[in-house]
Amino acid sequence: MGGRWFYTRGGPFLLNFGTISSLMYSKDEIKRRVGIYASALVQPGMVVGLGTGSTAYWVIMALGERMKKEGLVFTGVPTSKITASLCLDMGIPLLELNNVGTLDIDIDGADEIDAQLNLIKGGGGALLQEKMVAAASKQLIIIADYSKLVKQLGVFPLPVEVDPDCWKEVQKGINKTYKVAAILRDKDDLPFLTDHGHYILDCYFKVIGQAQELCADLNNIPGVIENGLFIKMAHKAIVGMPNGRIEQVSADYS
Ligand code: 5RP
Repeated sequence: MGGRWFYTRGGPFLLNFGTISSLMYSKDEIKRRVGIYASALVQPGMVVGLGTGSTAYWVIMALGERMKKEGLVFTGVPTSKITASLCLDMGIPLLELNNVGTLDIDIDGADEIDAQLNLIKGGGGALLQEKMVAAASKQLIIIADYSKLVKQLGVFPLPVEVDPDCWKEVQKGINKTYKVAAILRDKDDLPFLTDHGHYILDCYFKVIGQAQELCADLNNIPGVIENGLFIKMAHKAIVGMPNGRIEQVSADYS
């Protein structure tokens, strides 16, 4: 048997990977299964936040299929330009965040998920819009494959979105305060530009102890627009295991 210890406020439990056998699914297949599973949470008439990344991709595909087969009617709120363009390809009607009140549900991926369902997001560079959509939603459902589960956040470099006019100052500040490398993300030998026209510093904390404090402190640095820590935002994680099983973990913020 294989598995991973998972710690919650109610104590640790084992997420069971099942008997290791030749029947192990590829990461892509696991993401596809999780995406289809999560798409079933969308009910007619809902306003739905649609995440960014290779797992959210499958939710969008599955919802497009449900529209065709079942005549499902819903409205999407995209978390990035790339997601908006996928939705348009699938015929999913969209609204801008400014034009909806509260969203019924937001389904999005993550780069790291700890046992309290705190997250690192922003590997795809969409953290700002993702956080704004998540904050406006009644529930944030995280979809991921098992490799995203961690005991402690921080191995995945934390994305910090910064104003291009002062990224060097922010970089120096983060270096000095936290003694960690903060590397300007690039694409095709140019700084990576977010949908909102900002840069990203990927910060190599390795271990993030006080995630809530760090999140607030980073956002207090002049020039920082947002960071990829999502603290106490996710309501549920739907996680695909190597053997194809899907596990669900709910957050307890009481
Ligand atoms: C994009 C994100 C993504 O949700 C995160 O990077 C996970 O992506 P994937 O599902 O491709 O692993 O935060 O900004």
